[in-house]
Amino acid sequence: MDRIRIVGGQRLNGSIPISGAKNAALPLMIASLLTPDRLTLKNVPNLADVNLLARILRNHGVDLAVDGKRAGPAHHIGETFHLCARDIVDTVAPYEMVSRMRASFWVLGPLLARCGQAKVSLPGGCAIGTRPVDLHLMGLKELGAEIDIEAGYVIAKARGGLHGGRVVFPKVSVGATHNVLLASSLARGETVIENAAREPEIGDVAECLVKMGAKIEGIGTSTLRIQGADRLEGAVHSVLADRIETGTFAIAVAATGGDVTLEGARPELLKTALDALTKTGVEVQTTNSGIRIARNGHGIEPVTVETQPFPGFPTDLQAQLMALMTTAKGTSVIRETIFENRFMHVQELARLGADIQLHGDTATIKGVKGLTGAPVMATDLRASVSLVIAALMAEGETMINRVYHLDRGFEQLEQKLSRCGAQIERLTG
Ligand code: EPZ
Repeated sequence: MDRIRIVGGQRLNGSIPISGAKNAALPLMIASLLTPDRLTLKNVPNLADVNLLARILRNHGVDLAVDGKRAGPAHHIGETFHLCARDIVDTVAPYEMVSRMRASFWVLGPLLARCGQAKVSLPGGCAIGTRPVDLHLMGLKELGAEIDIEAGYVIAKARGGLHGGRVVFPKVSVGATHNVLLASSLARGETVIENAAREPEIGDVAECLVKMGAKIEGIGTSTLRIQGADRLEGAVHSVLADRIETGTFAIAVAATGGDVTLEGARPELLKTALDALTKTGVEVQTTNSGIRIARNGHGIEPVTVETQPFPGFPTDLQAQLMALMTTAKGTSVIRETIFENRFMHVQELARLGADIQLHGDTATIKGVKGLTGAPVMATDLRASVSLVIAALMAEGETMINRVYHLDRGFEQLEQKLSRCGAQIERLTG
């Protein structure tokens, strides 16, 4: 099993290209199930989750071709995927696949809309919480689906196809919004989704669906109005920049000090997180090519932050911010309101010398003078990268075990950091 070895204490300087967003690329790939035509996605990040979803989609009958390398400037431009689901050959998404990646549950809506039936394994809980799917099912029932749960599978049928409906989510859910948005694009008539998640990745998927022939109003707001099409067509779409990767590197620079430009980053996608960083005393500047983050000399001010659905502070940056706060000049408070169990990094950060007290959904972090390297264990994607940030700050060597979590969501993490001066290497095997 691969490990990552980091020797902390180096400042980061230079530039880092920001990849396409994992959490947009996955639902965009799933959108290919809605059309027999070719969907071309550009700027797709090369990640374990993307590759796993490619396998899952192939199992449903999607032909997938990836463009080879192109001559030209060396900067990162992501991969180009051509997906074509001419015929859906299998409407079953088996447990072995769905249990490895929750987002694959989102094939349910598109399969149902296109084929009138689908059998998709329940994803089960995961390290960060129980993560039920009741809202997905509620939404699809409003569109006319009949749903049974048998032996761990959701068995959904829509005799005569899905129809439009009014879906009022009692709670904001990114996944349930994706599932219903995708399905309603190919349902008969109008669907209104109220209390829809407003995450930019949902807007990106909606824009792609518009290119494919759906009519969608309210993109970027909490009320989406979708006129389904009888048939969706092929399209060409470029995956938007990854705001979580952007925020992660911004926090890493804040943590180590230095001066880095995040190329291709879009500040409007993570305003709340950048505001929090500004409050810590870090310089945040929008440039022509992205975002510049700089910290020279002075320490980090403590902050109080609560995770919230977009446009609030993202839960996917909570662990990284906590790593930064471990050496702040005072006490910070971070409240996690989205997932009930997203604090696994706390014990590992403590191994590096952090002083963190947990009470229910709230972590109180007393800034310490410095962290010291130690062996640690990665637990989930974002928790793992918080350990990378802590290790970059720590004195001495940190060995991070179980790094396959990082490979699910960070493209070329070691390369991007080492080019800016970090001492980081992967030990394979
Ligand atoms: C998406 O997960 C992201 N995943 C997560 O990123 C992200 O943390 C999360 O949204 C919140 O922003 C992808 O985009 C692939 P939710 P999702 O449905 O859709 C509850 C990462 O690290 N809920 O918005 O699964 C749920 O338990 C990942 O990249 C229900 O109660 O999240 C949670 O408490 C991790 N019933 C809350 O809603 C439901 O039917 C928000 O979950 C669905 C969700």
